[in-house]
Amino acid sequence: MTTPWELRFANRTQRMKSSFIRELLKVTNQPDVISFGGGFPAAELFPIEESKKAAEKVLDLYGRKALQYTTTEGYDPLREWIAEDARKDGLNITKDNILITTGSQQALDFVGRIFINQGDRVLTEATTYLGALQAWNPYGPTYVTAETDENGLITDNLEDLIRQNIKFMYVLPNFHNPLGVSMTLERRKRLIELANQYSVPLIEDDPYGKLIFEGEPLPSIAALDAQYQQKNDTEFGRNVIRTSTFSKILAPGLRIGWAIAPQEIIKRMVQAKQGADLQCSTFDQYLAYELASADWLPEHISTIRRVYKERRDAMLQAFKDFMPEGTTWTVPNGGLFLWLRLPEGCDSLELFPKAVEEKVAYVPGTPFYPNGGPNNTMRLNFSATNPEKIREGVRRLGVMIKKSLEK
Ligand SMILES: Cc1ncc(COP(=O)(O)O)c(C=O)c1O
Repeated sequence: MTTPWELRFANRTQRMKSSFIRELLKVTNQPDVISFGGGFPAAELFPIEESKKAAEKVLDLYGRKALQYTTTEGYDPLREWIAEDARKDGLNITKDNILITTGSQQALDFVGRIFINQGDRVLTEATTYLGALQAWNPYGPTYVTAETDENGLITDNLEDLIRQNIKFMYVLPNFHNPLGVSMTLERRKRLIELANQYSVPLIEDDPYGKLIFEGEPLPSIAALDAQYQQKNDTEFGRNVIRTSTFSKILAPGLRIGWAIAPQEIIKRMVQAKQGADLQCSTFDQYLAYELASADWLPEHISTIRRVYKERRDAMLQAFKDFMPEGTTWTVPNGGLFLWLRLPEGCDSLELFPKAVEEKVAYVPGTPFYPNGGPNNTMRLNFSATNPEKIREGVRRLGVMIKKSLEK
């Protein structure tokens, strides 16, 4: 029966879909399922004791202020901390270039609200972050997609794509979700060059940049853009909106992320935020500031890197031991995910219910392609499971996939 509500939904709801991943989490949250599905950080590393102390300090020192409404832009010391961190990366910005958001997801939502008209062409990687698509689809964009390889977004024929009247480009340069790959410095520079040449702005989504396993981090797209503009005597940092978050270095439950952008964009995002939720939780922002500015944070991030690297290695070894011939995978140098391509003829969506029967879960690759793609891919998370369970989970997957190939 059609209810009166159903007749009244706005047209844009037809373009809204439940996230496959969030639906899947409901099935796979049972304790006996080995889940490589969610994008969960390792909960055992959350700074519980430090959070208790910080919460007490916030209430003791700031009490009523921390429980009161605050400005939409966010808690100033927190904005200062983020600005200082970005300055270390070569971005000449102040707190006025920063908006604190409810996770970086909200910053992506605001990008959709303030930029996308129906039919606008948005350039993304051919496989991209599902949450961005979910945020933007209601506004009815068309996606123009650029291919990727193990070095991230391929820039060779990007110029042809950029010429197609693109509203903005959206890129995940570090430890891509879902691919796990990162863009080389050369490609980053080429991207910036083209973006500036054709005046097409960039959204740089970087929740995982600090979780690098080996070597030195590469400069952000925003920092390279600033460098480029300085060299070419154009306006500073004009071309990039950068989003990031405390979700992966502190805790996602805090829901504290941010956008770094030119002030005229921050102003528009503030207007969007006033309509959405007025501000982020004052208390959570005070808490996030105490945690972020604590002297143990660098050590904490090192621990996360070390643990995730061990888990990645466990997963790679298990692939070698248990996956059928013809299976390929990415080797991420950071972050939470990797991307597996099964032999031709395997359908990861079709296999999913069988995997759940075997009590192991992953995310089928199909939803990550805005314009469709092969159905033999899957995203696996390695951060949330210990090495023994990773091995057992991959073994179960391997057995199941081999069986399906025998048919
Ligand atoms: C690429 C990417 N962007 C944004 C987000 C949103 O994260 P949050 O809202 O927790 O900051 C995620 C979460 O996993 C992500 O993977």
